[in-house]
Order: sequence, then structure tokens, then C-alpha cells
Amino acid sequence: MKGIVFTEFLDLVEEKFGLEMVDKIISQSELASEGVYTSIGTYSFSEMLQLVTNLSGNTGISTDDLLLVYAEHFFSVIKTSYPGLLETYKDPIEMLASIENHIHVEVQKIYPDAELPTFVVEEKTDNSIIMLYKSSRAMHHFGLGLMNKTFEHFNSKASIVLEKIKEDGTEVRFIVHKI
Ligand code: HEM
Repeated sequence: MKGIVFTEFLDLVEEKFGLEMVDKIISQSELASEGVYTSIGTYSFSEMLQLVTNLSGNTGISTDDLLLVYAEHFFSVIKTSYPGLLETYKDPIEMLASIENHIHVEVQKIYPDAELPTFVVEEKTDNSIIMLYKSSRAMHHFGLGLMNKTFEHFNSKASIVLEKIKEDGTEVRFIVHKI
């Protein structure tokens, strides 16, 4: 997992919960990196999992809700860091349909060691899309947060329903309708 995901996460934790919370979740976790991240480095996903799990334990906020809020913040990072990628799109449904075959392909070119999910488009119309999310990282709520912000970015709104295919969240169906 890329360092930018960690540095942005810890910045957000500091902003919302203070520097003491950053220190606390780092010391509660067993981190090969010792909690020192650079935006271009690569770190194991288990470090993120421990940080989010410990933040959840200390705050009482579910890990899904934490990933959702974090993704909404991460979208603004995407807007600043990869403006060209977003400008390719005029419509949120088109953008979501292109994650697998365009957006994340470009991300993988920038970061060859990025760990990305698989999205399979099952059905698509002008106003709706049904996509299957698959990832051993089970970060579906990170996807949900990015989808929410994608619609907001295009001044649009959607109802997004998640249907767990696998109980552990490694396969989830997203049912998205523009409203
Ligand atoms: C992960 C970039 C759009 C879903 C990531 C990562 C990057 C990235 C850098 C982290 C990879 C790593 O740590 O190794 C981008 C960029 C986008 C974009 C630049 C737009 C221009 C989206 C959208 C979704 C999405 C719209 C909506 C569903 C995800 C998910 C992950 C992820 C769920 C977490 C990894 C996993 O679940 O296995 N993306 N992304 N991305 N992205 Fe995107």
C-alpha cells in the first residue's frame, strides 16, 4: 500500500482527534515501518489495518465508518494530485465504469507496486451502474466514500446500496442509481 495513503490518513487523524491519538495508535500497533511513512514509499497493508482497527477501538467509531470518512478526504487528495485523470470525465457513471480499465491502470503505471481492487461492471445504463468489488483488503467502504465524492464532484447525487457477496467483505456488489 502506497505511503500517500498512510501520510494522508495520519494527517486526517491528527486533524480530527489530535496528535496524541496519532502517537497512541502508532504505539498500539506493531509496525515494521515504526510509523514513519514517506508518500512515495510502499508499506504493508497490515499496517493500515492495525492503525484503523486501533483508531476504531479508541474512538468507538466502526472501521467501515472510518474508511468512509477517510476516502472522502482522500478524494480531495486525488483532485489535487491527479487533476488530469478526473478531467477526462464528464459524468460520474462513466467515471465509475472506467476505474478498472483506465483510472487504476494509470495509477498502476505511476505506482507499479500499488495494491488495487478489481471492479467488474455487471450492468450499466445512463443513470445506473452495478459493479462487483473484489479485494483481499475488503476496503469497500473506502470505495463507497470515493463514489460519494465522485457524484458530488459532478454536482450529482446517487443512491448507493452495498450487497455483501462474501461475509468478510472481500466481494461486494455496489448498486448505484443517479437521483
Ligand atoms: C485504492 C488512486 C478512483 C476505489 C487506490 C490507491 C490509489 C488510488 C493511489 C491506493 C493503492 C495502494 O495503496 O497501493 C485512485 C485515483 C482515482 C481513484 C487517482 C481517480 C482519479 C477510485 C474510485 C473508486 C476507487 C472512483 C471507487 C470505487 C479504490 C479502492 C481502493 C483504491 C476501494 C482500496 C484498495 C482495495 O480495496 O484493494 N486508488 N483511485 N478508486 N481505490 Fe482508487
